[in-house]
Amino acid sequence: MRIAFFDTHRFDRAAFEDANAAFGHDLTYFEPRLTPQTVGLAAGFPVVCSFVNDRLDGACLRALAEGGTRLVALRSAGFNHVDLVEAGRLGLTVVRVPEYSPQAVAEHTAALVLALNRKVHRAYARVREWNFSLDGLVGFDLYGKTVALVGLGRIGRAAARIFRGFGCRLLGVDPRLSAPDAHALGIESVELSEALRQADIVSLHVPLTPATRHLIDAAALAKMKPGAMIINTGRGALLDSHALVEALKSGHLGAAGLDVYEEEEGIFFQDLSEQVLQDDVLARLLTFPNVLITAHQAFLTREALHAIARTTLESVQRFERGEAPGPTEVRAEQVIKG
Ligand code: NAI
Repeated sequence: MRIAFFDTHRFDRAAFEDANAAFGHDLTYFEPRLTPQTVGLAAGFPVVCSFVNDRLDGACLRALAEGGTRLVALRSAGFNHVDLVEAGRLGLTVVRVPEYSPQAVAEHTAALVLALNRKVHRAYARVREWNFSLDGLVGFDLYGKTVALVGLGRIGRAAARIFRGFGCRLLGVDPRLSAPDAHALGIESVELSEALRQADIVSLHVPLTPATRHLIDAAALAKMKPGAMIINTGRGALLDSHALVEALKSGHLGAAGLDVYEEEEGIFFQDLSEQVLQDDVLARLLTFPNVLITAHQAFLTREALHAIARTTLESVQRFERGEAPGPTEVRAEQVIKG
């Protein structure tokens, strides 16, 4: 089938070309993000493959449907950027990659924790300047510390296994976590406010929905232990970034590791090194020595890219053959149910 890719980068093009040897779809790559301004490029393509910062709002979906698109294949797990109600109304099928490598994201979470705690980002820059002093680089033992995982789906569970390996005490916040599962994972199930009160590290692994938007706001940050660390590899808007700046400025929050940012659309995945950064909140966050930001790369492993490409192309094949999309399909009812 003819597939139009948006927001294409070298890394995903290579993975899709490789995986497509087994499928033989006709792939066309566009570098711009999918927006109301670029949606015209998709005219005549029955399948559009989009990424996390494409804007699949009502206007865009209507333009896609008018142009003949019937399947929107998200090459991501998250689908918060899609107006699923409108997609359903237009008869557009939306599929995603529900699971590609939870380990990739969980391992990046651990990378952020370790780098921030042991100040690897600062040590790296310092040593390259031939500054071999250790002042200001004191970290803490992870062993015995309390880690709160908010969201214990695929990624949260993978993170639980990693932090358990470090000898951490685990708290879990997830209404769907059963008592036997919590026991098997070595997790104590608690409410969010209790997790915030007790944890040395809080890590977010819930999807972004209207209910989880700014789940961590000023009040939540104030409940955290002084000096605690927050990690967000979920979605930017889970965390109120203005409140985050204030919590860092006051010194109440010890450190923040972010792989996602609520205004990342149009910034992340781009080389803006020759421009002046226009986002003042992001610019402020980047001034803190105890903040480490990566540009939505937690998923970026060879294994994950390969799995994303294979699952996406399989979904397109099933669609072409008129088969039911199965668990890769996302519908509005799922979001409403939570
Ligand atoms: P999942 O669907 O397996 O698990 C999500 C869990 O969150 C579920 O167990 C659910 O019960 C729980 N949950 C929902 N609302 C909650 C709330 N208010 N409080 C506590 N728990 C709640 O999803 P998975 O695969 O673990 O992914 C989680 C999120 O990670 C995705 O939705 C996506 O936004 C993000 N993600 C980020 C990536 C990155 O590269 N930074 C890559 C992949 C996913």
